[in-house]
Amino acid sequence: MKKRGENVETKLFTVDEIDQAANLLRQGELIAFPTETVYGLGANALDESAVKQVYAVKGRPSDNPLIVHVSDFEMVKEYVTDFPKQTAALVSAFWPGPLTMIFNVKPAAFSKTVTGGLQTVAFRMPNNQQTIDLIKKAGVPIVGPSANTSGKPSPTTADHVYHDLEGKIAGILDDGPTQIGVESTVLDLTSSDGVPVILRPGAVTKEQLEAVIGQVAVDQHLISESEAPKAPGMKYKHYSPDVPVWIIEGGLEVFDQAIDWAFKNHKKVGLFADDQIIVETKKVNETFSFGQPSVESATKWLFAGLRALDETEIDVIFAQGFPETGLGIAYMNRLKKAANQKILKKDSIFE
Ligand code: TXA
Ligand code: MG
Repeated sequence: MKKRGENVETKLFTVDEIDQAANLLRQGELIAFPTETVYGLGANALDESAVKQVYAVKGRPSDNPLIVHVSDFEMVKEYVTDFPKQTAALVSAFWPGPLTMIFNVKPAAFSKTVTGGLQTVAFRMPNNQQTIDLIKKAGVPIVGPSANTSGKPSPTTADHVYHDLEGKIAGILDDGPTQIGVESTVLDLTSSDGVPVILRPGAVTKEQLEAVIGQVAVDQHLISESEAPKAPGMKYKHYSPDVPVWIIEGGLEVFDQAIDWAFKNHKKVGLFADDQIIVETKKVNETFSFGQPSVESATKWLFAGLRALDETEIDVIFAQGFPETGLGIAYMNRLKKAANQKILKKDSIFE
């Protein structure tokens, strides 16, 4: 008999086959699911052996806790000891949506495999109707880390999931490319002073949160990347293609300087940039355009672009930077990790 998670046939499920996918999930199989942010790797959060398989197929460090996905806020109530005063306003403003909230969890509600041994659990209601139906039909909360091999860019299409996890999971529910392109904002609501803390930036910004609940703090680690990590998960290198990535700040002129430098050093170049830059800059070996020069489209296509360029025969990726405001904070957070913090600006020394 085949052992679960080993050389299984990975089936692509359509919207008409959600019942079948939900049954498999409930029985302990792994099903990848679409969300508005990135694709998640789903397993029954109440089935410890299924959750263990999630870590195994991703190759994820086992002390990094998982997000529990729910189909509505009612589902959360069963597992949480107390809700801070900001909860109702946050739920009504941002759920379903790209906001993950961390609450104190009832003892033994979830296994240590889900919580990483913490007294808290992260919950999210994704804004994708197929996945909400899937969770409802499964009748259980679903853990869902991004459905990529650990350390690779998160998947924003079913194809990306298939590429990383084919043969290792029972199926993928396909709903086309995701809308936002980077993972949810993670907000810790359990800090002792009562001020919620952003642990990971996402499409729900600090300003948007503060407009609804007042003061919000940002984990210092996000500001000073060199500091020791305060939250689990943050110490792991993420989103890295194999080809080295450099961020280009300063538009066309700096792209041209960087390309000259690379060619002088006999490096083949790939670009991740908007249409106009790709048309106007010097000819390079490979390009991935994210279309309009907006941070929204850059964010939507970031992981797809890094994955596509990583498959080609190039030596370096030059990727377009954006100002760190609004969604630009989440975009630059992911891009800096992919680039290992390497940034080129006007008249950077190109040697
Ligand atoms: O958009 C998303 O959030 C996607 C989609 C699939 O929903 N999911 C996702 O999951 O990004 P994952 O597992 O790749 O990221 C979860 C993050 C990690 O950085 C983890 O350390 C943090 O949330 N986290 C989870 N539970 C936590 C907890 N109790 N305390 C602190 N951080 C926690
Ligand atoms: Mg991830």
